[in-house]
Amino acid sequence: MELKKQQQFNDTIYQDIVSKYEEMSKPQSYDLDDALRKRAAAVLPSLTHLDVKGMLAPGYKQFFISGKGARVTDVNHKEYIDYMCSYGPMLLGYNNPIVNQAIKDQLDLGDVLTGPSPRMVELAEMITSTVPWADWAYFAKNGSDATFLSVRMARAYTGKKVILRAPGSYHGSASIWQEGKDKWLKRQGVLPEEKASVITYYFNDLNSVMEAFDQAKGNVAAIIIAAFRWDYGQAQELCTAQFLQGVRKICDDNNALLICDDVRSAYRISPKGTWADERYGHGVEPDISCLCKGIANGQPLSVVIGNAKCRKGAENINATGSFWANAVPFASALATIPLTEAGAAQSEKMGTLLRNGLHAQANTFKSLENDFFQTVSLYHIYKMFSYSYNIYISFSLPFLLTI
Ligand SMILES: Cc1ncc(COP(=O)(O)O)c(C=O)c1O
Repeated sequence: MELKKQQQFNDTIYQDIVSKYEEMSKPQSYDLDDALRKRAAAVLPSLTHLDVKGMLAPGYKQFFISGKGARVTDVNHKEYIDYMCSYGPMLLGYNNPIVNQAIKDQLDLGDVLTGPSPRMVELAEMITSTVPWADWAYFAKNGSDATFLSVRMARAYTGKKVILRAPGSYHGSASIWQEGKDKWLKRQGVLPEEKASVITYYFNDLNSVMEAFDQAKGNVAAIIIAAFRWDYGQAQELCTAQFLQGVRKICDDNNALLICDDVRSAYRISPKGTWADERYGHGVEPDISCLCKGIANGQPLSVVIGNAKCRKGAENINATGSFWANAVPFASALATIPLTEAGAAQSEKMGTLLRNGLHAQANTFKSLENDFFQTVSLYHIYKMFSYSYNIYISFSLPFLLTI
Protein backbone atom coordinates (compact mmCIF):
# COMPACT_ATOMS: atom_id res chain seq x y z
CA MET A 1 0.00 0.00 0.00
CA GLU A 2 2.75 2.39 1.07
CA LEU A 3 4.61 1.49 -2.09
CA LYS A 4 1.59 2.25 -4.26
CA LYS A 5 1.19 5.65 -2.63
CA GLN A 6 4.87 6.37 -3.18
CA GLN A 7 4.56 5.39 -6.84
CA GLN A 8 1.56 7.72 -7.26
CA PHE A 9 3.50 10.50 -5.59
CA ASN A 10 6.46 9.85 -7.90
CA ASP A 11 4.20 9.86 -10.96
CA THR A 12 2.79 13.24 -9.99
CA ILE A 13 6.26 14.73 -9.48
CA TYR A 14 7.47 13.17 -12.69
CA GLN A 15 4.55 14.64 -14.67
CA ASP A 16 5.16 18.00 -13.07
CA ILE A 17 8.86 17.94 -13.97
CA VAL A 18 8.13 16.85 -17.53
CA SER A 19 5.58 19.59 -18.12
CA LYS A 20 7.87 22.26 -16.60
CA TYR A 21 10.73 21.02 -18.75
CA GLU A 22 8.58 21.02 -21.88
CA GLU A 23 7.36 24.51 -21.14
CA MET A 24 10.89 25.78 -20.60
CA SER A 25 12.08 24.20 -23.84
CA LYS A 26 9.23 25.73 -25.89
CA PRO A 27 10.18 28.81 -27.87
CA GLN A 28 8.57 31.79 -26.17
CA SER A 29 6.72 34.45 -28.09
CA TYR A 30 9.61 36.85 -27.59
CA ASP A 31 12.58 35.28 -25.94
CA LEU A 32 15.17 37.92 -25.01
CA ASP A 33 17.71 35.21 -24.27
CA ASP A 34 17.28 33.87 -27.76
CA ALA A 35 17.59 37.37 -29.23
CA LEU A 36 20.82 37.96 -27.27
CA ARG A 37 22.22 34.60 -28.40
CA LYS A 38 21.62 35.63 -32.02
CA ARG A 39 23.37 38.97 -31.51
CA ALA A 40 26.18 37.25 -29.61
CA ALA A 41 26.70 34.73 -32.41
CA ALA A 42 27.77 37.58 -34.69
CA VAL A 43 30.38 39.07 -32.38
CA LEU A 44 31.37 36.45 -29.77
CA PRO A 45 33.15 33.45 -31.36
CA SER A 46 32.16 31.03 -28.60
CA LEU A 47 28.82 32.71 -27.89
CA THR A 48 29.93 33.18 -24.31
CA HIS A 49 32.66 31.27 -22.56
CA LEU A 50 30.07 29.38 -20.54
CA ASP A 51 27.97 28.14 -23.39
CA VAL A 52 30.32 25.34 -24.28
CA LYS A 53 28.48 23.39 -26.94
CA GLY A 54 26.55 20.53 -25.47
CA MET A 55 27.16 21.64 -21.91
CA LEU A 56 23.98 23.57 -21.29
CA ALA A 57 20.68 21.74 -21.69
CA PRO A 58 18.19 22.92 -24.33
CA GLY A 59 16.14 25.81 -23.04
CA TYR A 60 18.75 26.75 -20.42
CA LYS A 61 18.97 30.51 -20.20
CA GLN A 62 22.39 32.00 -20.70
CA PHE A 63 21.75 35.67 -19.91
CA PHE A 64 20.72 37.03 -16.53
CA ILE A 65 19.93 40.53 -15.35
CA SER A 66 20.05 40.40 -11.57
CA GLY A 67 20.51 38.33 -8.44
CA LYS A 68 19.32 38.63 -4.85
CA GLY A 69 20.03 36.14 -2.10
CA ALA A 70 19.67 32.65 -3.54
CA ARG A 71 17.78 33.75 -6.64
CA VAL A 72 18.72 34.95 -10.10
CA THR A 73 16.51 36.55 -12.72
CA ASP A 74 17.02 35.87 -16.40
CA VAL A 75 16.56 38.39 -19.22
CA ASN A 76 12.97 37.22 -19.64
CA HIS A 77 12.35 38.23 -16.01
CA LYS A 78 11.95 34.65 -14.88
CA GLU A 79 13.30 33.96 -11.41
CA TYR A 80 15.23 30.84 -10.39
CA ILE A 81 16.69 29.40 -7.24
CA ASP A 82 20.34 29.34 -8.25
CA TYR A 83 21.94 26.12 -7.11
CA MET A 84 24.82 26.91 -9.46
CA CYS A 85 25.88 29.85 -7.23
CA SER A 86 27.21 31.45 -10.40
CA TYR A 87 29.46 28.42 -10.98
CA GLY A 88 30.75 28.75 -7.45
CA PRO A 89 31.57 32.28 -6.31
CA MET A 90 28.24 33.37 -4.79
CA LEU A 91 28.81 31.66 -1.49
CA LEU A 92 26.88 34.15 0.66
CA GLY A 93 24.24 34.80 -1.98
CA TYR A 94 23.79 37.64 -4.42
CA ASN A 95 23.91 41.20 -3.16
CA ASN A 96 24.90 40.30 0.37
CA PRO A 97 24.39 43.57 2.32
CA ILE A 98 27.56 43.28 4.47
CA VAL A 99 29.79 42.50 1.51
CA ASN A 100 28.08 45.13 -0.64
CA GLN A 101 28.74 47.79 2.00
CA ALA A 102 32.45 46.88 2.11
CA ILE A 103 32.59 47.07 -1.70
CA LYS A 104 30.88 50.48 -1.76
CA ASP A 105 33.11 51.88 1.00
CA GLN A 106 36.23 50.77 -0.86
CA LEU A 107 34.93 52.09 -4.19
CA ASP A 108 34.51 55.50 -2.59
CA LEU A 109 38.11 55.37 -1.38
CA GLY A 110 39.57 53.98 -4.62
CA ASP A 111 39.89 50.71 -6.48
CA VAL A 112 42.69 50.81 -9.08
CA LEU A 113 45.47 52.82 -7.46
CA THR A 114 49.11 53.14 -8.46
CA GLY A 115 50.01 50.48 -5.93
CA PRO A 116 48.05 48.04 -3.79
CA SER A 117 45.97 49.39 -0.91
CA PRO A 118 46.47 48.31 2.73
CA ARG A 119 43.62 45.81 2.13
CA MET A 120 46.06 43.50 0.31
CA VAL A 121 48.31 43.21 3.38
CA GLU A 122 45.32 42.89 5.70
CA LEU A 123 43.92 40.05 3.61
CA ALA A 124 47.26 38.20 3.44
CA GLU A 125 47.41 38.48 7.25
CA MET A 126 43.85 37.24 7.62
CA ILE A 127 44.41 34.23 5.35
CA THR A 128 47.74 33.19 6.84
CA SER A 129 46.35 33.45 10.35
CA THR A 130 43.25 31.43 9.36
CA VAL A 131 45.05 28.61 7.53
CA PRO A 132 47.41 27.07 10.11
CA TRP A 133 50.10 25.82 7.71
CA ALA A 134 50.14 28.86 5.38
CA ASP A 135 53.05 31.27 5.65
CA TRP A 136 52.48 33.52 2.65
CA ALA A 137 49.88 34.55 0.03
CA TYR A 138 50.24 35.48 -3.65
CA PHE A 139 47.17 37.15 -5.16
CA ALA A 140 45.76 37.01 -8.68
CA LYS A 141 42.31 37.06 -10.26
CA ASN A 142 41.08 33.65 -11.46
CA GLY A 143 41.45 30.03 -10.46
CA SER A 144 43.41 29.46 -13.67
CA ASP A 145 45.94 32.11 -12.62
CA ALA A 146 46.34 30.43 -9.24
CA THR A 147 46.85 26.89 -10.54
CA PHE A 148 49.29 28.00 -13.20
CA LEU A 149 51.20 30.19 -10.74
CA SER A 150 51.44 27.21 -8.41
CA VAL A 151 53.08 25.21 -11.22
CA ARG A 152 55.66 27.92 -11.82
CA MET A 153 56.36 28.22 -8.10
CA ALA A 154 56.82 24.45 -7.75
CA ARG A 155 59.22 24.39 -10.69
CA ALA A 156 61.07 27.43 -9.33
CA TYR A 157 61.38 25.82 -5.89
CA THR A 158 62.40 22.31 -6.98
CA GLY A 159 64.27 23.13 -10.18
CA LYS A 160 62.31 20.23 -11.74
CA LYS A 161 59.90 20.11 -14.62
CA VAL A 162 57.17 17.46 -14.50
CA ILE A 163 53.68 18.06 -13.08
CA LEU A 164 51.39 15.14 -12.21
CA ARG A 165 47.66 15.60 -12.68
CA ALA A 166 44.57 13.39 -12.80
CA PRO A 167 43.14 13.21 -16.33
CA GLY A 168 39.51 14.21 -15.70
CA SER A 169 40.13 16.95 -13.17
CA TYR A 170 39.70 20.54 -14.27
CA HIS A 171 42.43 22.95 -13.16
CA GLY A 172 41.66 25.87 -15.48
CA SER A 173 42.25 27.08 -18.99
CA ALA A 174 46.08 27.39 -19.12
CA SER A 175 47.68 25.38 -21.94
CA ILE A 176 49.36 22.96 -19.56
CA TRP A 177 45.95 21.60 -18.43
CA GLN A 178 44.62 20.96 -21.92
CA GLU A 179 45.24 17.29 -21.52
CA GLY A 180 43.06 14.45 -20.36
CA LYS A 181 39.70 12.81 -20.84
CA ASP A 182 37.37 15.79 -20.76
CA LYS A 183 36.65 15.76 -24.48
CA TRP A 184 34.15 18.64 -24.42
CA LEU A 185 37.07 21.04 -23.92
CA LYS A 186 38.37 22.33 -27.23
CA ARG A 187 42.13 21.99 -27.35
CA GLN A 188 43.22 23.54 -30.61
CA GLY A 189 46.02 26.09 -30.37
CA VAL A 190 47.92 24.18 -27.71
CA LEU A 191 51.37 22.93 -28.70
CA PRO A 192 52.27 19.35 -27.78
CA GLU A 193 55.41 20.62 -26.02
CA GLU A 194 53.28 22.80 -23.73
CA LYS A 195 51.78 19.70 -22.17
CA ALA A 196 54.77 17.40 -22.67
CA SER A 197 55.85 17.85 -19.07
CA VAL A 198 52.56 16.60 -17.65
CA ILE A 199 52.14 12.97 -16.58
CA THR A 200 48.80 11.61 -15.43
CA TYR A 201 47.85 9.55 -12.40
CA TYR A 202 44.42 8.32 -11.32
CA PHE A 203 42.52 9.87 -8.45
CA ASN A 204 42.72 7.76 -5.29
CA ASP A 205 45.09 5.31 -7.01
CA LEU A 206 48.42 5.43 -5.18
CA ASN A 207 50.04 2.87 -7.50
CA SER A 208 49.42 5.14 -10.47
CA VAL A 209 51.16 7.98 -8.61
CA MET A 210 54.17 5.75 -7.93
CA GLU A 211 54.25 4.72 -11.59
CA ALA A 212 54.12 8.37 -12.67
CA PHE A 213 57.07 9.20 -10.37
CA ASP A 214 59.01 6.28 -11.88
CA GLN A 215 58.20 7.45 -15.39
CA ALA A 216 59.42 10.99 -14.59
CA LYS A 217 62.80 9.64 -13.43
CA GLY A 218 63.37 12.05 -10.55
CA ASN A 219 62.00 15.07 -12.42
CA VAL A 220 58.65 15.63 -10.65
CA ALA A 221 58.20 19.23 -9.46
CA ALA A 222 54.68 18.72 -8.07
CA ILE A 223 51.52 16.70 -8.01
CA ILE A 224 48.27 18.66 -8.17
CA ILE A 225 45.19 17.11 -6.55
CA ALA A 226 41.68 18.55 -6.55
CA ALA A 227 40.44 18.93 -2.97
CA PHE A 228 37.95 16.24 -3.92
CA ARG A 229 37.13 14.58 -7.20
CA TRP A 230 34.38 16.26 -9.18
CA ASP A 231 35.17 15.31 -12.78
CA TYR A 232 32.48 16.54 -15.12
CA GLY A 233 29.56 14.13 -15.35
CA GLN A 234 31.05 11.73 -12.78
CA ALA A 235 30.11 10.90 -9.22
CA GLN A 236 32.07 12.99 -6.78
CA GLU A 237 34.64 11.31 -4.58
CA LEU A 238 36.66 12.28 -1.53
CA CYS A 239 40.39 11.55 -1.26
CA THR A 240 40.97 8.39 0.75
CA ALA A 241 43.32 8.53 3.73
CA GLN A 242 45.55 5.88 2.21
CA PHE A 243 45.87 7.85 -1.04
CA LEU A 244 46.46 11.29 0.44
CA GLN A 245 48.82 10.18 3.19
CA GLY A 246 50.68 8.02 0.66
CA VAL A 247 51.05 10.93 -1.78
CA ARG A 248 52.32 13.18 1.02
CA LYS A 249 55.05 10.66 1.82
CA ILE A 250 56.04 10.15 -1.83
CA CYS A 251 56.34 13.93 -2.29
CA ASP A 252 58.49 14.29 0.83
CA ASP A 253 60.73 11.38 -0.19
CA ASN A 254 61.23 12.82 -3.68
CA ASN A 255 61.50 16.54 -2.96
CA ALA A 256 58.31 17.24 -4.93
CA LEU A 257 55.52 19.60 -3.83
CA LEU A 258 51.95 18.66 -3.05
CA ILE A 259 49.53 21.21 -4.51
CA CYS A 260 45.87 21.19 -3.46
CA ASP A 261 43.55 22.70 -6.05
CA ASP A 262 41.05 24.18 -3.64
CA VAL A 263 39.71 26.72 -6.15
CA ARG A 264 36.25 25.31 -5.96
CA SER A 265 35.63 24.25 -2.40
CA ALA A 266 37.78 26.40 -0.09
CA TYR A 267 35.50 28.51 2.14
CA ARG A 268 32.55 26.25 1.31
CA ILE A 269 33.82 23.43 3.48
CA SER A 270 36.00 25.51 5.81
CA PRO A 271 37.78 28.89 5.72
CA LYS A 272 40.89 26.92 6.77
CA GLY A 273 40.79 25.03 3.45
CA THR A 274 38.99 21.85 2.48
CA TRP A 275 41.68 19.45 3.69
CA ALA A 276 41.68 21.12 7.11
CA ASP A 277 38.47 19.16 7.62
CA GLU A 278 39.61 15.69 8.72
CA ARG A 279 36.92 14.02 6.55
CA TYR A 280 38.46 15.53 3.43
CA GLY A 281 42.15 15.88 4.30
CA HIS A 282 42.89 13.00 6.72
CA GLY A 283 45.42 15.17 8.54
CA VAL A 284 47.43 15.90 5.39
CA GLU A 285 48.66 19.43 4.69
CA PRO A 286 49.63 20.49 1.17
CA ASP A 287 52.69 22.64 0.44
CA ILE A 288 50.68 24.96 -1.76
CA SER A 289 46.93 25.59 -2.11
CA CYS A 290 45.03 27.47 -4.78
CA LEU A 291 41.91 29.27 -3.53
CA CYS A 292 39.43 31.30 -5.51
CA LYS A 293 35.71 30.98 -5.99
CA GLY A 294 34.28 31.48 -2.51
CA ILE A 295 36.83 33.98 -1.25
CA ALA A 296 35.27 37.34 -2.15
CA ASN A 297 31.61 36.55 -2.82
CA GLY A 298 31.69 37.31 -6.51
CA GLN A 299 34.53 39.83 -6.72
CA PRO A 300 37.43 38.66 -8.92
CA LEU A 301 40.17 37.34 -6.66
CA SER A 302 42.29 34.23 -6.33
CA VAL A 303 45.23 33.40 -4.14
CA VAL A 304 48.05 30.89 -3.97
CA ILE A 305 49.06 30.14 -0.40
CA GLY A 306 52.10 28.17 0.68
CA ASN A 307 54.16 26.92 3.59
CA ALA A 308 57.46 28.41 4.73
CA LYS A 309 59.45 25.69 2.97
CA CYS A 310 58.44 26.68 -0.54
CA ARG A 311 58.35 30.44 -0.05
CA LYS A 312 61.46 30.74 -2.23
CA GLY A 313 59.44 29.34 -5.13
CA ALA A 314 56.99 32.23 -4.86
CA GLU A 315 59.78 34.77 -4.49
CA ASN A 316 61.51 33.58 -7.63
CA ILE A 317 58.72 34.07 -10.12
CA ASN A 318 57.49 37.30 -11.56
CA ALA A 319 53.83 37.33 -12.54
CA THR A 320 51.40 40.20 -12.30
CA GLY A 321 48.36 41.71 -14.01
CA SER A 322 46.93 45.19 -14.58
CA PHE A 323 44.09 44.53 -12.14
CA TRP A 324 45.67 42.10 -9.69
CA ALA A 325 46.06 44.78 -7.03
CA ASN A 326 42.55 46.30 -7.25
CA ALA A 327 41.42 47.20 -3.77
CA VAL A 328 37.71 46.36 -4.06
CA PRO A 329 38.05 42.55 -4.29
CA PHE A 330 40.34 42.60 -1.24
CA ALA A 331 37.79 44.64 0.72
CA SER A 332 35.12 42.20 -0.41
CA ALA A 333 37.19 39.19 0.74
CA LEU A 334 37.88 40.84 4.11
CA ALA A 335 34.11 41.10 4.62
CA THR A 336 33.35 37.64 3.21
CA ILE A 337 35.84 35.37 4.99
CA PRO A 338 34.64 36.05 8.57
CA LEU A 339 31.13 35.03 7.48
CA THR A 340 32.17 31.75 5.88
CA GLU A 341 32.76 29.69 9.05
CA ALA A 342 29.12 29.85 10.11
CA GLY A 343 28.12 29.77 6.44
CA ALA A 344 29.95 26.48 5.88
CA ALA A 345 28.13 24.82 8.78
CA GLN A 346 24.75 26.08 7.56
CA SER A 347 25.58 25.05 4.03
CA GLU A 348 26.44 21.53 5.15
CA LYS A 349 23.24 21.28 7.20
CA MET A 350 20.98 22.44 4.37
CA GLY A 351 22.95 20.52 1.74
CA THR A 352 22.61 17.31 3.74
CA LEU A 353 18.86 17.81 4.06
CA LEU A 354 18.50 18.42 0.36
CA ARG A 355 20.82 15.57 -0.55
CA ASN A 356 18.99 13.11 1.67
CA GLY A 357 15.67 14.17 0.16
CA LEU A 358 17.04 13.74 -3.35
CA HIS A 359 18.54 10.43 -2.35
CA ALA A 360 15.19 9.13 -1.13
CA GLN A 361 13.45 10.33 -4.29
CA ALA A 362 16.21 9.09 -6.58
CA ASN A 363 16.04 5.61 -5.15
CA THR A 364 12.36 5.34 -5.97
CA PHE A 365 12.97 6.66 -9.50
CA LYS A 366 15.94 4.50 -10.31
CA SER A 367 14.00 2.06 -12.46
CA LEU A 368 12.45 4.70 -14.72
CA GLU A 369 14.02 4.80 -18.13
CA ASN A 370 12.98 7.11 -20.89
CA ASP A 371 14.34 9.95 -22.98
CA PHE A 372 13.54 12.58 -20.45
CA PHE A 373 15.36 10.88 -17.64
CA GLN A 374 18.34 10.19 -19.82
CA THR A 375 18.76 13.95 -20.07
CA VAL A 376 17.64 15.00 -16.62
CA SER A 377 18.03 12.05 -14.35
CA LEU A 378 17.13 12.59 -10.77
CA TYR A 379 19.59 9.90 -9.86
CA HIS A 380 22.31 11.75 -11.74
CA ILE A 381 21.36 14.96 -9.99
CA TYR A 382 21.63 13.17 -6.67
CA LYS A 383 25.06 11.88 -7.64
CA MET A 384 26.23 15.36 -8.56
CA PHE A 385 25.06 16.55 -5.17
CA SER A 386 26.79 13.83 -3.22
CA TYR A 387 29.56 15.93 -1.74
CA SER A 388 28.82 19.38 -3.01
CA TYR A 389 26.32 20.65 -0.45
CA ASN A 390 25.08 23.85 -1.98
CA ILE A 391 27.31 24.07 -5.00
CA TYR A 392 27.34 22.47 -8.41
CA ILE A 393 24.55 20.35 -9.58
CA SER A 394 23.30 18.94 -12.84
CA PHE A 395 23.11 21.85 -15.24
CA SER A 396 19.48 21.03 -15.81
CA LEU A 397 18.24 21.50 -12.30
CA PRO A 398 17.35 25.19 -12.53
CA PHE A 399 14.49 24.08 -14.81
CA LEU A 400 13.09 22.02 -12.04
CA LEU A 401 13.29 24.84 -9.60
CA THR A 402 11.76 27.60 -11.68
CA ILE A 403 9.37 29.56 -9.53
C1 LIG B 1 39.07 22.97 -9.17
C2 LIG B 1 39.19 24.11 -10.14
N1 LIG B 1 40.40 24.58 -10.46
C3 LIG B 1 40.56 25.61 -11.32
C4 LIG B 1 39.46 26.21 -11.90
C5 LIG B 1 39.66 27.38 -12.84
O1 LIG B 1 39.19 28.55 -12.23
P1 LIG B 1 38.78 29.82 -13.09
O2 LIG B 1 37.61 29.43 -13.92
O3 LIG B 1 38.46 30.89 -12.08
O4 LIG B 1 39.95 30.20 -13.92
C6 LIG B 1 38.18 25.76 -11.60
C7 LIG B 1 37.00 26.36 -12.22
O5 LIG B 1 35.91 25.85 -12.23
C8 LIG B 1 38.03 24.70 -10.68
O6 LIG B 1 36.83 24.26 -10.32
